Amino acid sequence: MPLVTSKEILERALAERFAVGAFNANNMEMVQAIIETAQEERAPVILQVSQGAIRYAGLEYAAGLVKIAASMADIPVVLHLDHGTDFDQNVRCLRAGFTSLMFDGSKLPYEENVAISKRVCEIAHIAGIPVETELGRVLQAKDGVTPEEVEAAMTDPNQAKEFVERTGADSLAVAVGSVHAMKSREATLDIARIEAIRQKAGVPLVLHGSSGVKHESVVEAIEHGICKVNVATYLNQAFVRGMKEGFEKHPDEVDPRKFLRISRENVKEAVREKIRLFKSNGRIDSSGGFVSPPTQYRSVDIGGAEE
Ligand code: G3H
Ligand code: ZN
Repeated sequence: MPLVTSKEILERALAERFAVGAFNANNMEMVQAIIETAQEERAPVILQVSQGAIRYAGLEYAAGLVKIAASMADIPVVLHLDHGTDFDQNVRCLRAGFTSLMFDGSKLPYEENVAISKRVCEIAHIAGIPVETELGRVLQAKDGVTPEEVEAAMTDPNQAKEFVERTGADSLAVAVGSVHAMKSREATLDIARIEAIRQKAGVPLVLHGSSGVKHESVVEAIEHGICKVNVATYLNQAFVRGMKEGFEKHPDEVDPRKFLRISRENVKEAVREKIRLFKSNGRIDSSGGFVSPPTQYRSVDIGGAEE
């Protein structure tokens, strides 16, 4: 199928209370693992290209891998720019065929974040491409963050409402207790804050740094408005574990495929676990369209109207 934009699938996720897995892919084996598993699970899926992946593989190469994989799949696949650093990079990705963009102005002063986010949204919307923006800041575990710093960087619900209105953003990455690149699941999310942001902002919300969040907290967050869950570190861990296993089992092997095959299988199982956790499995029928929502996934009031 041709790539789809994130607009419809995230709005659907918001209405039916599930989340779409947004998986970071760094190489061909990871792209294959993500798409194959999403197909097997009949789940819509977002493949995203991080700044590190762009530096590693090059923009055209990273995008090309996802496009080829999507063209052979029979589920909706989105090609998303993760943590776009500036206006120009977003334009380059638009030109390269990305079907979902992100401008991350979380390190900028508020007004500057508003101004650039708005510019990105304006140009992307002309091309029919939705944009994720970020308000508050999801910190990095490698920086050795304290709970106080995480708390201080959280998204303010009232500011989120104003931010979405002023920028025209289609979805919003929120800082609600997670930290990027944690190696074990210890964090708990601020569910009341997620609910308040959902009510005020009225757009699908995005959870970054999910690898370090307890599963029960992710499930609760999805029930309160998280519609896209980004997963990177957990997949990298699965991939590297596979390589280590391969080296141990076949110390004299010189064919890298022996190791990469184990890594690809490990990533598949990690993706499957997350897709089921996010309840995005079983959403897509054999023709590639959404199935009607099962009765337990009723529509919810998406808020955004009141002060
Ligand atoms: O943008 C990507 C993510 O937020 C992934 O975070 O590495 O903690 O899973 P993670
Ligand atoms: Zn992130």
